[in-house]
Amino acid sequence: APAGPRQRFDAMISGEERIEPRDWMPDDYRATLIRQIAQHAHSEIIGMQPEGNWITRAPSLKRKAVLIAKVQDEAGHGLYLYSAAETLGVDRAELLDLLHEGRQRYSSIFNYPTPTWADVGAIGWLVDGAAITNQVPLCRCSYGPYARAMVRICKEESFHQRQGFEILHVLARGTPRQRAMAQDAVDRWYWPSLMMFGPPDSESAHSGKSMAWRIKRYSNDDLRQRFVDIIAEQVRALGLTLPDPDLAWNAERGHYDFGAVDWAEFTAVLKGDGPCNRQRIEHRRAAHADGAWVREAARAHAAKQADRAAA
Ligand code: 3HC
Repeated sequence: APAGPRQRFDAMISGEERIEPRDWMPDDYRATLIRQIAQHAHSEIIGMQPEGNWITRAPSLKRKAVLIAKVQDEAGHGLYLYSAAETLGVDRAELLDLLHEGRQRYSSIFNYPTPTWADVGAIGWLVDGAAITNQVPLCRCSYGPYARAMVRICKEESFHQRQGFEILHVLARGTPRQRAMAQDAVDRWYWPSLMMFGPPDSESAHSGKSMAWRIKRYSNDDLRQRFVDIIAEQVRALGLTLPDPDLAWNAERGHYDFGAVDWAEFTAVLKGDGPCNRQRIEHRRAAHADGAWVREAARAHAAKQADRAAA
């Protein structure tokens, strides 16, 4: 009997072919992509808040210009990703409602505060660094629109990571207070950045299917290990330390051993009990309400264009 749609889908996945919006796909493949891409998009726009907090207080015009460019990039990443999600038949307005109602997630990492300028450096180096480690494999994800969005996003993330590393490099060679400020920021962002990779593989609800469908290319623990191996070397170039007494090169494994992540903290932050969860969502809801007139104007303009085209 000729291959049915599911056989064709399975053959495309195992043949490393891209699934495109018009291809038949199982409902749960579609659903898990909507879930992940929406959460990824929400993370990008919520992620604008911790850093945006420093645009008016950046220590120099150069730092201000670089930070404005980075925050604008995050907004653009959100738009690429909402567009990728819309190819699966959802509408971004619907996804934003789910975010505002707390029914869709964004990355736990953005629920932490940014009390000093050094946080902008630690976020660039650690948070964008972790994002790159997670996003490079997603460039080979089986769903075409998501993989293509990732290619563009990864190029910009590299600039984000470099500017963060450079901020910390300068502070670490500054006055003792500047050096202490850089070390304090690294101490606060290290463990939360390891949590960005998700729960341990044993606790991961979606990894099995996500890897079978070649959405997730490496497991949560594998990418977390890859990230630790990278920053354990880079922190030496910074002349700073990571707040992990168990961090040590394991020649047998060919990787760095590192300490136990506090999964109780991770679970609490996901439940909404992180330091900034409420503030982030309130700020987001307020920004959405303040932007209603722009959406109104865009709709009116589109309607006028349509009338003109029809006339
Ligand atoms: N924050 C919030 N929720 C998380 C999380 C985190 N750090 N890690 C896992 N979760 C959630 C998952 O969403 C899932 O919950 P759900 O069923 O309600 O969606 C649950 O915890 C179990 O985790 P799984 O490992 O089973 O889930 P996934 O297979 O989806 O893996 C993931 C989690 C690795 C984060 C994966 O979703 C992924 O790769 N997402 C794309 C990357 C992304 O979202 N990155 C955001 C980082 S910030 C960013 O990119 C901005 C940059 O500019 C700095």
